[in-house]
Amino acid sequence: MTKSFTLNKVLSGADFTMGVATSSFQIEGASELREPCIWDTFCQVPGAVKDSSDGRTACDHYHLWQQDIALIDELGFDAYRFSVCWPRIICADGSVNQQGLSFYLAILNELQRRGIKAYVTLYHWELPQFLEDEGGWLNRETAYAFADYARVVATAFGDKVSAYTTLNEPYCSAFLGYEIGVHAPGKVGKQYGKKAAHHLLLAHGLAMQVLTDICPDIPSGLVLNFTTYYPATQSDADKQATLLAKAHFNDWYASPALTGQYPPLLESLPAAERPVIEPGDMAIISAPMAYLGVNYYTRALVQACPGGHFEILPPADNVPVTAMNWEIYPQGLRDLLLQLHNEYDLPPLFITENGMAEDDVVQNGQVHDKVRVNYLQHHMQAVAEAMEHGVDVRGYFVWSLLDNFEWAEGYLKRFGIVHVDFDTQQRLPKQSALKLSEWLKQRR
Ligand code: FCB
Repeated sequence: MTKSFTLNKVLSGADFTMGVATSSFQIEGASELREPCIWDTFCQVPGAVKDSSDGRTACDHYHLWQQDIALIDELGFDAYRFSVCWPRIICADGSVNQQGLSFYLAILNELQRRGIKAYVTLYHWELPQFLEDEGGWLNRETAYAFADYARVVATAFGDKVSAYTTLNEPYCSAFLGYEIGVHAPGKVGKQYGKKAAHHLLLAHGLAMQVLTDICPDIPSGLVLNFTTYYPATQSDADKQATLLAKAHFNDWYASPALTGQYPPLLESLPAAERPVIEPGDMAIISAPMAYLGVNYYTRALVQACPGGHFEILPPADNVPVTAMNWEIYPQGLRDLLLQLHNEYDLPPLFITENGMAEDDVVQNGQVHDKVRVNYLQHHMQAVAEAMEHGVDVRGYFVWSLLDNFEWAEGYLKRFGIVHVDFDTQQRLPKQSALKLSEWLKQRR
């Protein structure tokens, strides 16, 4: 028997939001009803996605959304974080796809009817291919195109949304997509990553202006992913290396958005790797946000390498890891929240993603995902501890509602609290969903 969730007082308050998250490309399918995006193209590249799969059907959420929303309600979540697929809204000729808008409006209406708060992300990595053809995030114009798209969405959705997120994890779009090429569009080159990142951050800032203009009362912000970095040893070299890793991967995104300045690392970058920053950009990027979304999965140990470089070490053999080979380290979330709190003047925080992939098996119609239950429990505990130390966290979203298309891993990695049989599209709540649900209901 899987143990029950312990009721955590700090997270039990009526004003603490408990939600569950998904993203459009990972679950929707129905790709024939929209423009192609960079992930459709990337999936066609041999070897790019481990199981050679794609997002054409995914969880068929486009057709099954009603049952999926009913499930969120039955499980007892307060909120649903999902994303809007840009190429489902804007066509290559610049016109608006009304059918695409209607799909999301129906979801918003249903959430409203059921009293579930809608947390809407505008960009979870599906750049329209027609924009990539013009240079994608290496082209400054893409940032302005994003603001135009944000205007269309915010105008259509009105007050049906509880909170907007401009971008999900610009680090992944920029570094994984344009520097090491393991995500779409698969570009490789040290000279690209930080340029793409600057245009993404600019897109965030321009969209913030649009959202403030159209829906000033709806909280808007940015979602960043953070790894907590620790030195592999207590040597000065490893400590320095750790700061460098943190500057590249965490502060490169948090600092411009929160302070209007890149980390000092900017000065030491070779000219070819520096972003082109135009006058006024940093003020746009650092527009005040109502909240910052924090996605956390794991920590990493950092080791110094010759020449002032660093290496991120794989987890040691004796530590618990997930099916992604990510170390399970709840204390990293607590440390991260305290670190952010100490280093920045923060708006309220939401944990917008946290969860794990496990090699789940269905046995007698059940999935006993014991490790996930523990993972969630301990990470929620870490959030509560950070709150007790004064960090202002307003909500926590589990990643993810459903097993889904896990990017370069295809359908091989299951992050859902609800199991999906990809042949039949049958949904089966795992023990983690059932335990969470018990707790959510007690809490109400
Ligand atoms: C995050 C992504 C999300 C999911 C999880 C496992 O980086 O935002 O889409 O893939 O990782």
